[in-house]
Amino acid sequence: MNLILLGPPGAGKGTQAKRLEEQYGIAQISTGDMLRAEVKSGSAIGTEARAIMERGDLVPDSIITAMLAKRVTQPDCARGFILDGFPRTVPQAEALDSMLTEMGLALDHVIELQVDDAALVERIAGRFTCGSCGAGYHDTFKPTAKSGVCDNCGATNFIRRADDKAETVAARLDAYHRQTAPLLPYYAARGRLQTVDGMADMDVVASQIATILGKATATA
Ligand code: AP5
Repeated sequence: MNLILLGPPGAGKGTQAKRLEEQYGIAQISTGDMLRAEVKSGSAIGTEARAIMERGDLVPDSIITAMLAKRVTQPDCARGFILDGFPRTVPQAEALDSMLTEMGLALDHVIELQVDDAALVERIAGRFTCGSCGAGYHDTFKPTAKSGVCDNCGATNFIRRADDKAETVAARLDAYHRQTAPLLPYYAARGRLQTVDGMADMDVVASQIATILGKATATA
């Protein structure tokens, strides 16, 4: 099964993709995570991407599509993948169509997580992840059970993303509305688009997605 989770920054794409990865045994492909790994490693791609990401703009299509083409051929994608943060422009969607055709694969679902802009700002401002295992949390919506300790691995070091500052979030939302929202009519015209209420509780969102994917429950 190959699917796209589409939605603005903070809509919950990463949160739901991680659940789907565990439940269905298919790979989460987050182009944002891939870019952050490039930045951390100090590679040429990372050096170019760093300033762009910190401004809240989109990294050039050529870099992203080359990265993705390599990623989808890796063994963990054999059973399928969840695209989280890709495509983000119509040229990226067209490149994906060509890639899938060449590989003899199909796109099974495009699921939009619909969330109001005001809620997104609150979600992003409160987000943090474990610096050791990468588990995701939120100050209000998903705090750690014990303050300052990761529920998953017990680590005490946490990270907040450099592009989660208020001014960068505004630029990221603008980029979404200008460059990514045109993908909604793109996939609707192909009969692929389904929308869920991303404002709902995380478990309810997971159930809505499970219904689309044809499973009864999907709470983790
Ligand atoms: P990327 O890393 O993809 O970030 P994004 O799309 O801005 O999305 P986020 O990771 O911010 O949010 P999310 O939807 O995953 O939400 P999450 O689950 O974390 O991209 C970063 C940058 O990289 C881009 O700006 C761009 O520069 C570059 N880039 C990446 N891909 C690119 C591409 N294809 N082309 C060009 N450039 C690219 O949830 C957010 C918070 O809310 C969490 O704390 C979570 O706990 C909480 N939460 C989640 N669901 C709920 C809920 N239902 N109720 C309450 N809280 C919730």
